[in-house]
Amino acid sequence: MSAMATPALFSPFTMRGVTLKNRIVVSPMCQYLAVEGQPGDWHMAHHARFALGGVGAAILEATAISRDGRITHGCTGLWEDAQIAPMARITALYKAHGVVPGVQIGHAGGKAATQRPWEGAGPLPEDGPEPAWEIIGPSAVKIRSNFRTPRPVTLAEIAEIVAAFGQAARRAVAAGFDIIELHGAHGYLLHSFMSPLTNQRTDAYGGSLANRMRLALECAAEVRRAVPGHVVVAYRASVVDNLDGGIALSDSVALAAELKQLGVDLIDCSAGGIALPVSLLPQKVEHGFQAPLAEAVRHGAGLATMAVGLITDPVKANAIIASGQADLVALGRELLADPSWPYHAAVALGLDKPESVLPMQYAFYLERRAAVQGR
Ligand SMILES: Cc1cc2nc3c(=O)[nH]c(=O)nc-3n(C[C@H](O)[C@H](O)[C@H](O)COP(=O)(O)O)c2cc1C
Repeated sequence: MSAMATPALFSPFTMRGVTLKNRIVVSPMCQYLAVEGQPGDWHMAHHARFALGGVGAAILEATAISRDGRITHGCTGLWEDAQIAPMARITALYKAHGVVPGVQIGHAGGKAATQRPWEGAGPLPEDGPEPAWEIIGPSAVKIRSNFRTPRPVTLAEIAEIVAAFGQAARRAVAAGFDIIELHGAHGYLLHSFMSPLTNQRTDAYGGSLANRMRLALECAAEVRRAVPGHVVVAYRASVVDNLDGGIALSDSVALAAELKQLGVDLIDCSAGGIALPVSLLPQKVEHGFQAPLAEAVRHGAGLATMAVGLITDPVKANAIIASGQADLVALGRELLADPSWPYHAAVALGLDKPESVLPMQYAFYLERRAAVQGR
């Protein structure tokens, strides 16, 4: 890299009518503090940290397409129009700082009606202060041994779920989101249909790979239909289950190729979530451990991918983009710890005027400080 070249991590990236100023994306992160699906002051403060920190885009937390599709009572939703206005405050905040706002929409399936992680993440107790509700899935198979058994959905309910994805996407666009990501990962409804470990159906939605991916494809097609042409549609997949008999990489490459045909623009490549919490993988994980999945999908299916998972080091993050493993990197916990990570990455990678990734109110003084320090 010459001294003048812009590091790959800080090069812009365009999908449809949407341009990200750099490749750094806030990974979706549930905050469990919504009331009846509506975000509030916490969410404004939380997202302001990232909006001011210099990221290129931010994907809001798993947001339910129906009230029963929430993971917890504190999850955000886009199942009714009243949820549009509080979401629009967040998109306006991001847009004011040149950050592309996205939202992840989904249905929690067999992981619905659970406690917040720090309350145990298990099923809501029958006698607790927050009522549990009936959970649904492809088959009567628990996502984890300590979870409740979902009731298999009927074909009529599947049609309602597909329609609800489209309605949620329509509301997301009304709220100002430019990226709509379907949540197809981590053991939630779409993933549980895709995985042979949890899908034992014998109808058109189970059995063969084509049948297991049918719900994901129908929902993606409905979302694409519901949003204008300039809006990006993304899909977060658990690319592999990391379990014997589970989703294999080739299955997800096939899914991505089909999604591409339907006008999906980006695959956000995560993994796992069935049987084990994603955070409790049996093996020790390294920086960017899931980036090879993004690389395989990018080259196998020929569409843009986002790598996620323990991406913390700017030089290695830059290498993920520069080497063509992925088009974007999503950071979760690292941005919780350091929302100004893009600025620190810009310094580490030798970006010309690294302060410029921050708002002028910060950049002006940091540039002066750098000057007196002789940089
Ligand atoms: C607080 C928290 C909430 C999360 N919520 C979501 C979510 O809503 N949707 C999702 O797909 N992943 C969720 N994740 C997973 C992250 O998006 C990300 O994939 C994971 O944390 C790995 O990236 P990291 O090592 O950069 O944190 C969450 C993670 C954290 C830490």
